[in-house]
Amino acid sequence: MKIAMGADHAGVDAKNELVQKLSEAGHEVEDCGTQGEASVDYPDYALKVAESVASGQAERGILVCGTGIGMSIAANKVAGIRAAKCNDPQEAVMCRAHNNANVLCLGARVLDATVLAEVARAFIDSPFEGGRHARRVDKMMGAENSPSR
Ligand code: RB5
Repeated sequence: MKIAMGADHAGVDAKNELVQKLSEAGHEVEDCGTQGEASVDYPDYALKVAESVASGQAERGILVCGTGIGMSIAANKVAGIRAAKCNDPQEAVMCRAHNNANVLCLGARVLDATVLAEVARAFIDSPFEGGRHARRVDKMMGAENSPSR
């Protein structure tokens, strides 16, 4: 799977570990940065990854900041993005199964490296269930395009 990944300074180490793990697992990873410890602004990386997913260049995105919260708020501003901040593998399974989330947001100051890897793997490996969930996802995405909102 082609996966776009990004992080700010708070998430860069965790992002680099995940890039390595997912690449070793055979995924094609687009690393959108950041690359160093210098303080950067999380929306810059959230928007890069979100635009890669929204354009179809990447199938899924993974974003890491301190909490995962800023990344999720920013990524969800891009049309077509359903970004979910997940704190455990079960949430990651469910955001795929019921919400067809296409971007995962993680908090490197909240979860340890082992859990981060488990959550990322659950997100990548889990399918969307479709059916009644597709109707609900369609309603969300319809609201995104509605001029009255
Ligand atoms: C950076 O200090 C921090 O605000 C950022 O990584 C993230 O947690 C924002 O939501």
